[in-house]
Amino acid sequence: MKKTLKDINVENKKILVRVDFNVPLDINLKITSDKRIVETLPTIEYLLKNDAAIILMSHLGRPNGKVVKRMSLEPVSKRLSELLNMSVKFIRSDCIGFESKKIAVNLKPGEIFLLENLRFHPGEEGKGVSGEKDIVTDIFSRQLASMGDIFVQDAFGTLHRSHASTTGIVKYVHDAAMGFLVEKELNFFYRVFKNLPSPIVAVLGGSKISDKMDIIENLLNKVDFVIIGGAMAYTFLKSQGISIGTSFVEDDKLDLALELIKKAKERKVDLLFPIDHIVTNKIDFMNKCVVRFKSDIKTTVDEAIPEEFMGVDIGPRTIEKFSEVIKSAKAIIWNGALGIFEISEFSKGTFEIAEFIAEATDNGSISVVGGGDSISSVKKAGVDKKISYISTGGGAFLEFLKGKELPGIAALPDLN
Ligand code: 3PG
Repeated sequence: MKKTLKDINVENKKILVRVDFNVPLDINLKITSDKRIVETLPTIEYLLKNDAAIILMSHLGRPNGKVVKRMSLEPVSKRLSELLNMSVKFIRSDCIGFESKKIAVNLKPGEIFLLENLRFHPGEEGKGVSGEKDIVTDIFSRQLASMGDIFVQDAFGTLHRSHASTTGIVKYVHDAAMGFLVEKELNFFYRVFKNLPSPIVAVLGGSKISDKMDIIENLLNKVDFVIIGGAMAYTFLKSQGISIGTSFVEDDKLDLALELIKKAKERKVDLLFPIDHIVTNKIDFMNKCVVRFKSDIKTTVDEAIPEEFMGVDIGPRTIEKFSEVIKSAKAIIWNGALGIFEISEFSKGTFEIAEFIAEATDNGSISVVGGGDSISSVKKAGVDKKISYISTGGGAFLEFLKGKELPGIAALPDLN
């Protein structure tokens, strides 16, 4: 068992808290979902109540070791300050530079300092470093650690990354523990998720089998049905000799798709694929829009897609078929969109499935949603409040579905 926040004495200590404030921002740098900030409030409020000085550390986006202005954490510091109704110190300056260190040294109990984006520094991930990557990361871990006394890991969404601020820092602080958000998510995975009632349905979307292969394999030992949507479905269909027109396909994964179908049969898990599709002959992927004046949008009669057309969403018969299975489930796990839901013409399948999952939850099923696209789908469909559990993890949630131990947890000390 790993140490949790209540196992350590934080009074009058300087606490370095790794949070995942990697929140979505629009082009005006307005935060479009503050869930990841809100979910860390219990840890922050507990530390404030217990007279700790708090140094928050996070990344935002993937700046690859360089300063990228629009990835500054400044909008996050403002939102956090609003949520807590108190001032949050922040400077647009090197997170381990002289100015930041000065604020950290003078930070008093009950005060909060949010460091600028950790990934602006090459030492966080070792990106942008030629050779000696480990040394640079190790030095950065030490420098971060030297700013405080104790490390608290509350970045559930970043637990699958082995970076300076998630694993490296642990060996250079006096003590370390997980925060309340990480504790809550782990409790969910180890207690609730591992004991979901049957029948269990996994709804998996997204574009690549290669990304989801381990997840499907692991879920075959746990669930009764796997619903496959999104572009990934076309690889499965092609592997069975069904024509898929110009749809996205991973030709080098056709054997793997057949292998997974075989394994599902052996384990008596129903693997369900679309039986009709929304298809188009022209799409502008760069701008995520249908090229209207030229494109033709149709619904196929069955699972076959005509030549020169590509599948972009599940069709009405598929929605009905999938909804029947969802209605019969006691537990539903959802990851990945079922079509190109960012384009309104191709969002129906994803949104309707989101609504069916919400309806099933209203009727007593347990629903679990994780991963960026599915979280934003339930939100856009306006049913997020109805879902039993929405994880703050994107990639970390997927790693859990694979059944893997995450480095951010492994690095924490055990409770003696
Ligand atoms: C996420 O959004 O899943 C986490 O913040 C991790 O981000 P990353 O995939 O850029 O490491």
